[in-house]
Amino acid sequence: MRTNNKRLQVFALTFFLVAVVFFLIFIVHIQRSGENGNKGKGEESREQLILGFSQIGSESAWRTRNTQSIFEAAEQNGIQILFDDAQQKQENQLKAIRSFIVYQVDVIAFVPIVEYGWDNVLREAKDAGIPVIVVDRQIRADESLYAGFLGEDGLEEGRSAAQFLLDKYQEETKPVLIFEMSGTKNSSVVRERASGFREKITGFPKFQIIHSVDGDFLRSRGKEIGERLIQSSIDSDTFKNDGLYYNGRKIDVVYSHNDSMTLGLLDSLENYEIDPSGTTIISVDAEQKSIDALVEGKIDCVVECNPNLGPTLMELVKLVAEGKEIPRFTYNSGKVFTQNDDFSLYAPRGY
Ligand code: AHR
Repeated sequence: MRTNNKRLQVFALTFFLVAVVFFLIFIVHIQRSGENGNKGKGEESREQLILGFSQIGSESAWRTRNTQSIFEAAEQNGIQILFDDAQQKQENQLKAIRSFIVYQVDVIAFVPIVEYGWDNVLREAKDAGIPVIVVDRQIRADESLYAGFLGEDGLEEGRSAAQFLLDKYQEETKPVLIFEMSGTKNSSVVRERASGFREKITGFPKFQIIHSVDGDFLRSRGKEIGERLIQSSIDSDTFKNDGLYYNGRKIDVVYSHNDSMTLGLLDSLENYEIDPSGTTIISVDAEQKSIDALVEGKIDCVVECNPNLGPTLMELVKLVAEGKEIPRFTYNSGKVFTQNDDFSLYAPRGY
Protein backbone atom coordinates (compact mmCIF):
# COMPACT_ATOMS: atom_id res chain seq x y z
CA MET A 1 0.00 0.00 0.00
CA ARG A 2 2.79 2.34 1.07
CA THR A 3 4.78 1.39 -2.07
CA ASN A 4 1.75 2.22 -4.20
CA ASN A 5 1.41 5.62 -2.51
CA LYS A 6 5.08 6.34 -3.09
CA ARG A 7 4.69 5.43 -6.78
CA LEU A 8 1.71 7.71 -7.01
CA GLN A 9 3.67 10.59 -5.41
CA VAL A 10 6.63 10.08 -7.80
CA PHE A 11 4.24 9.95 -10.74
CA ALA A 12 2.44 13.14 -9.62
CA LEU A 13 5.73 14.95 -9.09
CA THR A 14 7.04 13.88 -12.50
CA PHE A 15 3.77 14.92 -14.10
CA PHE A 16 3.96 18.30 -12.33
CA LEU A 17 7.56 18.88 -13.47
CA VAL A 18 6.78 17.89 -17.06
CA ALA A 19 3.76 20.26 -16.99
CA VAL A 20 5.97 23.11 -15.68
CA VAL A 21 8.55 22.49 -18.42
CA PHE A 22 5.82 22.49 -21.09
CA PHE A 23 4.33 25.65 -19.61
CA LEU A 24 7.71 27.43 -19.74
CA ILE A 25 8.27 26.29 -23.33
CA PHE A 26 4.80 27.63 -24.18
CA ILE A 27 5.54 31.04 -22.57
CA VAL A 28 8.85 31.39 -24.41
CA HIS A 29 7.11 30.46 -27.65
CA ILE A 30 4.41 33.10 -27.09
CA GLN A 31 7.07 35.72 -26.36
CA ARG A 32 9.03 34.78 -29.45
CA SER A 33 6.02 34.91 -31.71
CA GLY A 34 5.19 38.32 -30.19
CA GLU A 35 8.69 39.53 -30.97
CA ASN A 36 8.46 38.15 -34.48
CA GLY A 37 5.11 39.85 -34.95
CA ASN A 38 6.65 43.22 -34.07
CA LYS A 39 9.67 42.48 -36.12
CA GLY A 40 7.43 41.67 -39.07
CA LYS A 41 7.09 45.37 -39.95
CA GLY A 42 10.77 45.99 -39.32
CA GLU A 43 11.87 43.06 -41.44
CA GLU A 44 9.48 44.07 -44.19
CA SER A 45 10.64 47.68 -43.98
CA ARG A 46 14.24 46.55 -44.24
CA GLU A 47 13.38 44.75 -47.46
CA GLN A 48 10.94 47.39 -48.74
CA LEU A 49 10.42 50.75 -47.08
CA ILE A 50 6.83 51.86 -46.63
CA LEU A 51 6.14 55.54 -47.17
CA GLY A 52 2.81 57.00 -46.06
CA PHE A 53 2.12 59.91 -48.42
CA SER A 54 -0.70 62.40 -48.01
CA GLN A 55 -1.32 64.52 -51.11
CA ILE A 56 -3.73 67.46 -51.02
CA GLY A 57 -5.67 66.58 -54.17
CA SER A 58 -5.48 67.17 -57.90
CA GLU A 59 -6.40 70.83 -58.28
CA SER A 60 -3.94 71.50 -61.12
CA ALA A 61 -1.82 69.84 -63.80
CA TRP A 62 1.12 70.77 -61.58
CA ARG A 63 -0.32 68.74 -58.71
CA THR A 64 -1.05 65.73 -60.94
CA ARG A 65 2.55 65.73 -62.16
CA ASN A 66 3.79 66.12 -58.58
CA THR A 67 1.90 62.98 -57.53
CA GLN A 68 3.08 61.03 -60.59
CA SER A 69 6.68 62.04 -59.96
CA ILE A 70 6.49 60.71 -56.40
CA PHE A 71 4.92 57.41 -57.50
CA GLU A 72 7.43 56.91 -60.33
CA ALA A 73 10.41 57.59 -58.08
CA ALA A 74 9.03 55.31 -55.35
CA GLU A 75 8.75 52.48 -57.85
CA GLN A 76 12.27 53.07 -59.15
CA ASN A 77 13.59 52.96 -55.59
CA GLY A 78 11.57 49.93 -54.51
CA ILE A 79 9.64 51.97 -51.95
CA GLN A 80 6.03 51.07 -51.28
CA ILE A 81 3.58 53.99 -51.01
CA LEU A 82 0.53 54.10 -48.82
CA PHE A 83 -1.32 56.96 -50.53
CA ASP A 84 -4.09 59.26 -49.43
CA ASP A 85 -5.74 62.02 -51.46
CA ALA A 86 -7.03 64.62 -48.99
CA GLN A 87 -9.49 66.21 -51.42
CA GLN A 88 -8.30 69.69 -50.37
CA LYS A 89 -9.19 69.20 -46.68
CA GLN A 90 -6.76 69.48 -43.78
CA GLU A 91 -8.97 67.23 -41.63
CA ASN A 92 -8.53 64.44 -44.20
CA GLN A 93 -4.77 64.92 -44.05
CA LEU A 94 -4.78 64.66 -40.26
CA LYS A 95 -6.79 61.43 -40.50
CA ALA A 96 -4.45 60.04 -43.14
CA ILE A 97 -1.33 60.80 -41.10
CA ARG A 98 -2.90 59.16 -38.04
CA SER A 99 -3.72 56.07 -40.08
CA PHE A 100 -0.10 55.93 -41.32
CA ILE A 101 1.01 56.00 -37.67
CA VAL A 102 -1.34 53.14 -36.78
CA TYR A 103 -0.02 51.19 -39.77
CA GLN A 104 3.53 51.87 -38.53
CA VAL A 105 4.89 53.01 -41.89
CA ASP A 106 8.64 53.68 -41.98
CA VAL A 107 8.38 57.32 -43.09
CA ILE A 108 5.56 59.82 -43.56
CA ALA A 109 5.58 62.55 -46.22
CA PHE A 110 2.79 65.05 -46.69
CA VAL A 111 1.94 68.19 -48.66
CA PRO A 112 0.36 70.52 -46.10
CA ILE A 113 -2.61 72.30 -47.60
CA VAL A 114 -2.28 75.09 -45.01
CA GLU A 115 0.52 76.25 -42.74
CA TYR A 116 -0.96 75.85 -39.27
CA GLY A 117 -2.49 73.05 -37.22
CA TRP A 118 0.07 70.25 -37.52
CA ASP A 119 1.82 70.18 -34.13
CA ASN A 120 -0.36 67.53 -32.45
CA VAL A 121 -0.29 65.01 -35.25
CA LEU A 122 3.44 65.52 -35.77
CA ARG A 123 4.02 64.91 -32.07
CA GLU A 124 2.08 61.66 -32.38
CA ALA A 125 4.29 60.60 -35.29
CA LYS A 126 7.40 61.54 -33.34
CA ASP A 127 6.24 59.55 -30.29
CA ALA A 128 5.68 56.57 -32.59
CA GLY A 129 9.24 56.99 -33.89
CA ILE A 130 8.17 57.74 -37.47
CA PRO A 131 10.12 60.50 -39.23
CA VAL A 132 8.11 63.03 -41.24
CA ILE A 133 9.13 64.96 -44.36
CA VAL A 134 7.12 68.05 -45.33
CA VAL A 135 6.72 68.30 -49.11
CA ASP A 136 6.02 71.20 -51.50
CA ARG A 137 4.47 73.66 -48.99
CA GLN A 138 5.89 74.69 -45.65
CA ILE A 139 4.36 74.55 -42.18
CA ARG A 140 4.49 76.71 -39.06
CA ALA A 141 5.26 74.12 -36.38
CA ASP A 142 7.92 73.19 -33.89
CA GLU A 143 10.88 72.26 -36.11
CA SER A 144 11.90 69.37 -33.88
CA LEU A 145 8.69 67.59 -34.89
CA TYR A 146 9.69 66.89 -38.49
CA ALA A 147 12.83 65.83 -40.27
CA GLY A 148 12.91 68.48 -42.99
CA PHE A 149 11.23 70.21 -45.89
CA LEU A 150 11.47 69.55 -49.62
CA GLY A 151 9.81 71.92 -52.10
CA GLU A 152 9.84 75.30 -53.72
CA ASP A 153 11.09 78.63 -52.47
CA GLY A 154 7.89 80.64 -52.83
CA LEU A 155 9.61 83.86 -51.77
CA GLU A 156 12.07 83.53 -54.64
CA GLU A 157 9.21 82.79 -57.05
CA GLY A 158 7.45 85.98 -55.96
CA ARG A 159 10.68 87.94 -56.31
CA SER A 160 11.27 86.56 -59.82
CA ALA A 161 7.76 87.56 -60.87
CA ALA A 162 8.37 91.09 -59.57
CA GLN A 163 11.81 91.30 -61.17
CA PHE A 164 10.20 90.74 -64.56
CA LEU A 165 7.99 93.77 -63.91
CA LEU A 166 10.87 95.93 -62.69
CA ASP A 167 12.68 95.19 -65.96
CA LYS A 168 9.69 95.52 -68.24
CA TYR A 169 8.48 98.81 -66.74
CA GLN A 170 11.91 100.28 -66.07
CA GLU A 171 11.24 103.35 -68.21
CA GLU A 172 7.58 103.73 -67.20
CA THR A 173 6.72 106.88 -65.31
CA LYS A 174 2.95 106.42 -65.00
CA PRO A 175 1.41 104.16 -62.29
CA VAL A 176 1.43 100.44 -63.12
CA LEU A 177 -1.78 98.89 -61.74
CA ILE A 178 -1.52 95.29 -60.62
CA PHE A 179 -4.33 92.81 -60.05
CA GLU A 180 -3.32 89.73 -58.05
CA MET A 181 -4.95 86.28 -58.17
CA SER A 182 -3.66 84.25 -55.27
CA GLY A 183 -3.98 80.55 -54.47
CA THR A 184 -5.33 78.58 -51.53
CA LYS A 185 -5.86 80.75 -48.47
CA ASN A 186 -3.51 80.12 -45.51
CA SER A 187 -1.10 78.05 -47.59
CA SER A 188 2.60 78.87 -47.21
CA VAL A 189 3.08 79.17 -50.94
CA VAL A 190 0.49 81.94 -51.22
CA ARG A 191 2.02 83.90 -48.36
CA GLU A 192 5.49 83.54 -49.86
CA ARG A 193 4.58 84.30 -53.47
CA ALA A 194 2.74 87.39 -52.24
CA SER A 195 5.48 88.65 -49.93
CA GLY A 196 8.40 87.93 -52.27
CA PHE A 197 6.58 89.93 -54.93
CA ARG A 198 5.78 92.83 -52.61
CA GLU A 199 9.27 92.90 -51.16
CA LYS A 200 10.69 93.60 -54.63
CA ILE A 201 8.24 96.25 -55.76
CA THR A 202 8.34 98.15 -52.47
CA GLY A 203 10.40 101.24 -53.07
CA PHE A 204 8.88 101.72 -56.54
CA PRO A 205 5.64 103.59 -55.81
CA LYS A 206 4.55 103.42 -59.46
CA PHE A 207 3.70 99.72 -58.87
CA GLN A 208 0.32 99.59 -57.16
CA ILE A 209 -1.53 96.41 -56.25
CA ILE A 210 -5.12 97.55 -56.69
CA HIS A 211 -6.78 94.27 -55.75
CA SER A 212 -5.92 90.78 -54.56
CA VAL A 213 -8.40 87.94 -54.86
CA ASP A 214 -8.31 84.29 -53.74
CA GLY A 215 -8.58 81.98 -56.76
CA ASP A 216 -7.80 78.77 -54.82
CA PHE A 217 -5.30 77.64 -57.51
CA LEU A 218 -8.26 76.53 -59.67
CA ARG A 219 -8.85 77.07 -63.37
CA SER A 220 -12.59 77.40 -62.76
CA ARG A 221 -11.94 80.19 -60.23
CA GLY A 222 -9.58 82.00 -62.63
CA LYS A 223 -12.30 81.93 -65.27
CA GLU A 224 -14.92 83.13 -62.81
CA ILE A 225 -12.69 86.01 -61.64
CA GLY A 226 -12.03 87.04 -65.27
CA GLU A 227 -15.72 86.90 -66.15
CA ARG A 228 -16.66 88.96 -63.12
CA LEU A 229 -14.11 91.65 -64.09
CA ILE A 230 -15.28 91.69 -67.70
CA GLN A 231 -18.96 91.67 -66.78
CA SER A 232 -18.60 94.59 -64.37
CA SER A 233 -16.75 96.64 -67.01
CA ILE A 234 -19.37 95.77 -69.62
CA ASP A 235 -22.04 96.98 -67.20
CA SER A 236 -20.27 100.32 -66.76
CA ASP A 237 -20.62 102.90 -69.56
CA THR A 238 -16.83 103.26 -69.88
CA PHE A 239 -16.37 99.74 -71.34
CA LYS A 240 -13.51 99.38 -73.79
CA ASN A 241 -12.63 96.04 -75.30
CA ASP A 242 -8.90 96.57 -74.84
CA GLY A 243 -8.13 94.62 -71.69
CA LEU A 244 -9.28 94.06 -68.14
CA TYR A 245 -10.66 96.71 -65.81
CA TYR A 246 -11.16 96.81 -62.06
CA ASN A 247 -13.57 99.42 -60.69
CA GLY A 248 -13.19 101.39 -63.89
CA ARG A 249 -9.38 101.39 -63.79
CA LYS A 250 -7.43 99.62 -66.50
CA ILE A 251 -5.41 96.71 -65.14
CA ASP A 252 -1.84 96.84 -66.47
CA VAL A 253 -0.62 93.64 -64.88
CA VAL A 254 -2.19 90.41 -63.67
CA TYR A 255 0.02 88.53 -61.24
CA SER A 256 -1.42 85.03 -60.96
CA HIS A 257 -0.05 82.59 -58.37
CA ASN A 258 -0.48 79.59 -60.66
CA ASP A 259 -1.05 78.49 -64.24
CA SER A 260 -4.47 76.94 -63.66
CA MET A 261 -5.94 80.31 -62.60
CA THR A 262 -4.09 82.05 -65.43
CA LEU A 263 -5.48 79.63 -68.02
CA GLY A 264 -8.96 80.12 -66.55
CA LEU A 265 -8.56 83.89 -66.89
CA LEU A 266 -7.47 83.44 -70.51
CA ASP A 267 -10.59 81.29 -71.10
CA SER A 268 -12.74 84.21 -69.95
CA LEU A 269 -10.89 86.69 -72.18
CA GLU A 270 -11.35 84.36 -75.14
CA ASN A 271 -15.07 83.95 -74.43
CA TYR A 272 -15.53 87.73 -74.52
CA GLU A 273 -13.08 88.18 -77.42
CA ILE A 274 -10.80 90.42 -75.40
CA ASP A 275 -7.21 90.59 -76.62
CA PRO A 276 -4.93 89.42 -73.77
CA SER A 277 -1.99 91.38 -75.16
CA GLY A 278 -3.56 94.51 -73.61
CA THR A 279 -2.55 93.19 -70.18
CA THR A 280 0.81 91.99 -68.90
CA ILE A 281 0.20 88.53 -67.46
CA ILE A 282 2.62 86.81 -65.08
CA SER A 283 2.04 83.26 -63.97
CA VAL A 284 3.73 80.61 -61.81
CA ASP A 285 4.27 76.84 -62.45
CA ALA A 286 5.30 76.55 -66.14
CA GLU A 287 3.01 73.76 -67.20
CA GLN A 288 2.95 73.03 -70.95
CA LYS A 289 -0.31 74.87 -71.62
CA SER A 290 0.92 78.09 -70.08
CA ILE A 291 4.25 77.89 -71.92
CA ASP A 292 2.22 77.42 -75.14
CA ALA A 293 0.20 80.53 -74.21
CA LEU A 294 3.45 82.44 -73.62
CA VAL A 295 4.71 81.41 -77.06
CA GLU A 296 1.37 82.58 -78.54
CA GLY A 297 1.85 85.96 -76.86
CA LYS A 298 -1.01 85.58 -74.37
CA ILE A 299 1.21 85.41 -71.27
CA ASP A 300 4.32 87.55 -70.71
CA CYS A 301 6.24 85.73 -68.01
CA VAL A 302 6.05 82.31 -66.37
CA VAL A 303 8.01 81.52 -63.23
CA GLU A 304 8.77 77.83 -63.05
CA CYS A 305 7.81 75.82 -59.98
CA ASN A 306 9.19 72.34 -60.51
CA PRO A 307 6.73 69.58 -59.48
CA ASN A 308 9.23 66.73 -60.04
CA LEU A 309 10.04 66.22 -56.39
CA GLY A 310 9.89 62.40 -56.46
CA PRO A 311 13.58 61.49 -56.97
CA THR A 312 14.87 63.82 -54.24
CA LEU A 313 12.06 62.82 -51.91
CA MET A 314 13.02 59.14 -52.19
CA GLU A 315 16.66 59.96 -51.36
CA LEU A 316 15.51 61.83 -48.26
CA VAL A 317 13.10 59.01 -47.32
CA LYS A 318 15.94 56.48 -47.43
CA LEU A 319 18.16 58.69 -45.27
CA VAL A 320 15.58 59.34 -42.56
CA ALA A 321 14.56 55.67 -42.54
CA GLU A 322 18.19 54.88 -41.68
CA GLY A 323 17.98 57.38 -38.84
CA LYS A 324 20.18 59.92 -40.62
CA GLU A 325 19.65 63.68 -40.56
CA ILE A 326 18.53 65.50 -43.67
CA PRO A 327 18.87 69.21 -44.49
CA ARG A 328 16.18 71.35 -42.87
CA PHE A 329 15.30 72.83 -46.27
CA THR A 330 15.84 71.29 -49.71
CA TYR A 331 14.63 73.60 -52.46
CA ASN A 332 13.89 72.65 -56.05
CA SER A 333 15.25 75.05 -58.63
CA GLY A 334 13.18 76.88 -61.22
CA LYS A 335 13.67 78.94 -64.38
CA VAL A 336 11.88 82.06 -65.54
CA PHE A 337 10.33 81.99 -69.03
CA THR A 338 9.61 85.32 -70.71
CA GLN A 339 8.56 86.86 -74.00
CA ASN A 340 12.22 87.71 -74.64
CA ASP A 341 13.32 84.04 -74.81
CA ASP A 342 14.36 82.04 -77.83
CA PHE A 343 11.32 79.72 -77.89
CA SER A 344 13.11 77.20 -80.10
CA LEU A 345 15.19 76.29 -77.05
CA TYR A 346 12.17 75.27 -74.98
CA ALA A 347 12.01 71.55 -74.16
CA PRO A 348 8.64 69.83 -73.64
CA ARG A 349 7.53 70.40 -70.09
CA GLY A 350 6.07 66.97 -69.33
CA TYR A 351 3.13 68.37 -67.36
O1 AHR B 1 1.96 74.31 -53.88
C1 AHR B 1 2.27 74.43 -55.21
C2 AHR B 1 1.14 75.01 -55.95
O2 AHR B 1 0.01 74.21 -55.75
C3 AHR B 1 1.31 75.09 -57.44
O3 AHR B 1 1.83 76.29 -57.87
C4 AHR B 1 -0.09 74.99 -57.87
O4 AHR B 1 -0.31 74.81 -59.21
C5 AHR B 1 -0.58 73.92 -57.01
O5 AHR B 1 -1.89 73.71 -56.99
